[in-house]
Parts: sequence; C-alpha cells; structure tokens
Amino acid sequence: MTRVDTLFTGRVYHRGEFKEACIGVEDGVISFIGKEVNAPSYDEKIDFKGLFIIPGLIDIHAHLRGMGLKHKEDFFSGTCAAAAGGFTLVLDMPNTNPPTNSRLRMMEKVEEAKTQIVVDTGFFFGRPEEASEAEKLVKTHAVGLKLYPEDYSRNVQPSLVEIVNIVRRNNKKIVFHPEDFSIIEQNRKAYPEMLKGVEKHSFIRPLEAEFSALDLFYKSFGTGAHATHLTSVESITRARVNGFTYDVSVNHLTLTNNYLLALGGICKVNPPLRSPEEKQRLVESLNKGTVPILTTDHAPHTLEEKNLTLYDEIPPGIPCFETAFPAILDMFHKTGLNLHAAIKAFTRGPAEFLGDRRLVAIIEGNLANLTIFDPKEEWKVKPEEFYTKAKYSPFAGRVLKGRVKATVVRGVLVFQDGEIKVERGFGEIYGMSEY
Ligand code: NCD
Ligand code: ZN
Ligand code: ZN
Repeated sequence: MTRVDTLFTGRVYHRGEFKEACIGVEDGVISFIGKEVNAPSYDEKIDFKGLFIIPGLIDIHAHLRGMGLKHKEDFFSGTCAAAAGGFTLVLDMPNTNPPTNSRLRMMEKVEEAKTQIVVDTGFFFGRPEEASEAEKLVKTHAVGLKLYPEDYSRNVQPSLVEIVNIVRRNNKKIVFHPEDFSIIEQNRKAYPEMLKGVEKHSFIRPLEAEFSALDLFYKSFGTGAHATHLTSVESITRARVNGFTYDVSVNHLTLTNNYLLALGGICKVNPPLRSPEEKQRLVESLNKGTVPILTTDHAPHTLEEKNLTLYDEIPPGIPCFETAFPAILDMFHKTGLNLHAAIKAFTRGPAEFLGDRRLVAIIEGNLANLTIFDPKEEWKVKPEEFYTKAKYSPFAGRVLKGRVKATVVRGVLVFQDGEIKVERGFGEIYGMSEY
C-alpha cells in the first residue's frame, strides 16, 4: 500500500484500548492502522487531535418514519439526527403509515429513503397479510421481520407460525416487542380511571406483561428470535433462558419513571420507564457484560401530540438519537457506568447481531465507519438545535459531559462540529448489492 485517500488521526479504540494512531482509508475501507511515521501518503488528512475514535455506532432499533408520517420525521431529518448522535448505520422499523408489510411497500420506502439518507440505513418489515408475501419480502435487502404485541399476543394463527418459519429459513432476523397485549387489556378494563393521564403508564403496562410476552413468544415460536428494548434484569434472564438475543434501549438505562412523573407525555414510551432500582440493576448488568446490544428506539412524535392530556391520545416514544451516546458518556463520568461495555454494545454487539464482520471493529479490511467524541466536553442539551423534527427531550436544559464531534461513514466525513457534511442520499441502503 503506497497511498490512501484519507488519513484520520486521533486516539483510536483498538483491541479494547485507546492509543494515539492513524487510520488510512482507501475506497471506504480501512487499509492502515498504526503510528504516523509508518503511515502511507494520503490525499487528505483529517486530524482529530486529542479526540477519541471508536467504530461507528450502530443502532438496530430506530424509527425514521417518512412516508405518511413525515410531519414526525423524514429520512433526511432522522438520519441527520443519527449522524449527529454518532450513528453510522441505523435499522428502521416498519410501524409506519402505511406499514412496511409487503414487498411493494418496502420498495416504495426504499425509493423514498435512498435519495434522503445521510448514514447507512437498513429496514425491517412488519407482519405481512399472507405467507406468500413473506416469501417475497425475504428476497429483498430487508434485515428481517419485526413483530408487535398485537401481532402475536392475542391468538397465534398458523399463518403467523408459517411466516416466522419462512423468515428463519431464509436466515433473516425475527425481532419482537415483548409486551403481552392481554395483560395490558385486562389492566385497562380493570382500572379505567388510570387512563386519564400518563402517570399510571407503568401500572397499565407492568413488567409482568414483558415477562409473559417473553414466555409466550417462546411457546408459540420456539427459540431463535431477538427481544428488543428489555427493561429489567429479570427480563434479561428470561430472554437468555428462552434462547433469545436481546437489547436494552438507552431510554431504560438512563431514565426512570420519575422522569415521566416530572415531565409527562414526552417520557411516555413503550415499554414504560421503570423504577430507579430497576434502572440501576440494568446498569450493573451492562457493566458485567450481560447487555450485549444497546439501542436508541429513537421514536419521534410531534410535541403537540406529546402535550395532549388523555392517556390514549399521547403517542409513546422518545426521540433520542442526539442524546443517546452523550447520556451514556455522562453516566460513565457520574455513575461509574462501564464505558467499554457501552461502546461494545453500540458497535461490536450490533455488528455481531447482523453477522457483519466488516463492522465489528477498527481493523484493516473493515469498513471505515468511525465515531469521534470528546469524553470531557460539557454541553447543554438544546432540543431546538436538534436535527430530528422532534425538538424536545427528557434531557432538555441538562449539561451532559461527553459530546459527539464527528461521524465518518465509509471513509467520508458525514458530520462534524454540529454540521452535516454530505448531500442527501449519501447513505446506502443496508443489504443492497453495493454494500
Ligand atoms: C415506538 C414508536 O413510536 O414507533 N414507540 C415506543 O414507545 N417505543 C413503537 C415501539 O417501538 O414499540
Ligand atoms: Zn417496541
Ligand atoms: Zn421502537
């Protein structure tokens, strides 16, 4: 190797340690890592002096909306927010309008997304009407099937079992949102007075609903699925016993039910935020290495919707691309959260989930996806400056210690110091042939 396109310098995360080093990139792929004296010549040098460079963050659970929900988020605003949060690859969920549950709708979504995305983006499909449609969907680039409580927790029809089997046979992922619909329905009927405001959200959707769904899913479909956004250590144990992979969302690792009581609708999320004790146990679990994947579950809604009063009027979901990693860095400083475990859970963990060796670490031959951060910079969260259309946050006004400074996707600087550096459409669709 004689010459590279770009040479990045900084404190590079390599084999579990940060070391002063250079990364040489050729055609979007890392072709050199080492000391500057040994570095090849280059066309351009980007010096991240004193900053930390880690593999590009990957989020396997996000809602970019678009289509009929553009007023909440579109593929440009959503992926700009992702880039600003340090994410280089995000996976979008199918609960859109219309739902992404057929090959045609998947193709329509990809058509819209591909001219707008600024980071690489993959897609899940929702439960199709017919097994024959599942046969078509598994032949697309899609990562897999996402199932919601209403899809699987009433009575499981044989057609759904068939769909799940088709997805598995084709080595695509099955991800499910574990909350048992029947328990939620029972609580709603038994305590109608709880449906006035959001305060009782975690009573209406208790942990038991999560436990029950984890067992129900296993009984209906067996092992070999991914349970997303688990909210307790007991749920992690159940997921492991049932042979599921799983993730924890940053919301449940950084926020508690107290935020819901203090801030109301903007902290309504499914599954609900839990107690401070439960959150603390999740942090300890991450520190011990039993949270292999973190997700954002970035779920933007309009502030008008979030400010409504009746329980059912307020849509669940928290926008958090731009605060997720900084909130983790802040907890590293202030509560002893293990930073290495968190970095792994946003990089190697999701890369292994995808079975994509080109994303697991900063090593020669891998894609040059990089996230650059300053662990010490303190900054005030101002949602009005966010790229997401959802300009509110549970962290609004808080000073967080740790800031994302730049994001590099396939060797190209996509975000730096608050600015998006590429045109709309720079991002690639994950799983398409060029990837
Ligand atoms: C998500 C959304 O808004 O699409 N909301 C949420 O509360 N997490 C849906 C989901 O992930 O369940
Ligand atoms: Zn969900
Ligand atoms: Zn979600």
